[in-house]
Amino acid sequence: MDYNLDSPGLVSSLDELSLWSAPFGLKILERINLRPQLHALDIGCGTGFPLLELSMRLGPESKVYGLDPWQAALDRADFKAKEYQINNISFFKGEAENMPFFTGTFDLLVSNNGLNNVRNIEQAMAECYRVARSGAQFVWTMNTDASFAPFYKLFRLALEQNHCTECLSAVDAHIYAKRRPVDEMSKITTHAGFEITMLLHDSFNYRFSNGTAMLSHSFIRLAFMPSWLEIIPPQNRNQILSTLEAFLNELAEKEKGLTMPVPFVVFDCVKP
Ligand SMILES: C[S@@+](CC[C@H](N)C(=O)[O-])C[C@H]1O[C@@H](n2cnc3c(N)ncnc32)[C@H](O)[C@@H]1O
Repeated sequence: MDYNLDSPGLVSSLDELSLWSAPFGLKILERINLRPQLHALDIGCGTGFPLLELSMRLGPESKVYGLDPWQAALDRADFKAKEYQINNISFFKGEAENMPFFTGTFDLLVSNNGLNNVRNIEQAMAECYRVARSGAQFVWTMNTDASFAPFYKLFRLALEQNHCTECLSAVDAHIYAKRRPVDEMSKITTHAGFEITMLLHDSFNYRFSNGTAMLSHSFIRLAFMPSWLEIIPPQNRNQILSTLEAFLNELAEKEKGLTMPVPFVVFDCVKP
């Protein structure tokens, strides 16, 4: 059964998402310069991470803003903020490409796996630059194009084995759309006007007992499966998914489990 992203029940269960988001977000919380009385913005705050934590770490004298186009997630973040009795957050439904904020508003901008998910990264980055004050810190994370490398190797093999070689370029395009090369992202960041003071590389592993476990995991089904399915013509989906699952299970058998590396980068930047 498909997930309905607008279902309040599903959205209220999404705290699990932080398990995926935490390794990236914790690096943001480590790197930011914490001072009171800041104006801070979380771009693509989703269900409130790291927004809520950021607001509490900066303290009640700071004003913190969350921006995301996903209304159901903003409602959940707002619900949690109320439960936690946090009074210094304002939520905005909107896109990074066209922010509802005045020029030079923010001392601190963060984005945890948000900016790599926007429609137009160049436009979003230009907006980040516009709404930042001179001297503002801007820390953002994304997982790299080498994420889940063993999965993508077997996905390509399953497509080839089922005579869907024309889909192989769609796999490349899918990875490029979500995870552009780090060099390219660096250029977009500096082209917008930011100085990158530190580019940090890190990695964590997403592990499963086998392919069946991986493909039925709720977060895989919610965040990855829809874009994987788009790559395959509808009439071939069942066949290719079964081949892929068998390949993943074989690998898990051989390696005593499936380990999916998630390399990621942290851009620590400043607006000169
Ligand atoms: C991978 S989630 C990260 C959510 C959250 N920051 C976290 O760490 O859990 C990406 C978020 O970016 C949001 N997003 C997608 N397009 C966006 C856009 N154009 N502008 C701002 N946010 C966007 C999504 O709605 C989603 O909440």
